[in-house]
Amino acid sequence: MKITVVGAGAVGASCAEYIAIKNFASEVVLVDIKENFAEGKAMDLMQTSSLNGFDTKIIGSTNDYSQTSGSNIAVITSGIPRKPGMTREELIGINAGIVKSVSEQLIKYSPDVILIIVSNPMDTMTYLTHKVTDLPKNRIIGMGGALDSARFKYRLAEAIECPASDINGMVIGGHSDKGMVPLTRLATRNSIRVSELLSVDRLQTVSEETKVGGATLTGMLGTSAWYAPGAAVSSLVQAIACDQKKMFPCSALLEGEFGLNDLCIGVPVILGKNGIEDIIEINLDDIELNQLRTSAEGVNATNSLLTDLNL
Ligand code: 2OP
Repeated sequence: MKITVVGAGAVGASCAEYIAIKNFASEVVLVDIKENFAEGKAMDLMQTSSLNGFDTKIIGSTNDYSQTSGSNIAVITSGIPRKPGMTREELIGINAGIVKSVSEQLIKYSPDVILIIVSNPMDTMTYLTHKVTDLPKNRIIGMGGALDSARFKYRLAEAIECPASDINGMVIGGHSDKGMVPLTRLATRNSIRVSELLSVDRLQTVSEETKVGGATLTGMLGTSAWYAPGAAVSSLVQAIACDQKKMFPCSALLEGEFGLNDLCIGVPVILGKNGIEDIIEINLDDIELNQLRTSAEGVNATNSLLTDLNL
């Protein structure tokens, strides 16, 4: 199993590290435009292999996509990250052109590749990838909900004072501060609804903290976060590489599901060797459905900015 990660910045390198540590891939190719940067990160990571006990071979490449040839899965993290105070949507002007050319290069050398889009604004970058490539819809996946759900579980665990591994829950909707829809009604601690364990106010706080999870870290770190994003991507890659049929909320192209059409937004999907193998239309109540539809309006508004970019 050969996996390419484009962008050897903090998110890309962290993703490559988690993939290697989980030891399910034969090869990871890190690509970056900065001369020798990916090669350096790859060498540094390879020097952890005897310490961390993995056999995955990691190589770096300065923008030479021929080295990515025959990749089964490719992750696109390239582009500029958020600075404090910026929204993900503000990155569209620069990142759209980058994501377009990177996806074209990847497909040229790996026509059967499954793409995972991480660059922001992620839902719009995922939609753009559908528009500029001819890949079937199961082979383009946006990573946002898996990360937002991990942050949701972290906040719920903090509020309940329990380990996050006790928590089951999902965040659907757009990967944006206003667009996320944490499904507090359905979240549980080992089958006990969190609404039985936390007050309405505390749950509301958890929800708000979850939605600004990325912005909070950007404010603290001066740039966007990388450990949880890297871990979330590596979980999606592993689900596909190992044909796990696991469910994650991911940005997927919708064609009528949840009453939505012609956009990519976070919904529960099953990931296996074919990429998105199913979209699960869970039963949402009216409030949740309205929140998802409002979120979709926000994603559509960002998507409409693509037309001015002349890509
Ligand atoms: C975040 O939420 C990178 O968008 C990503 O941290």
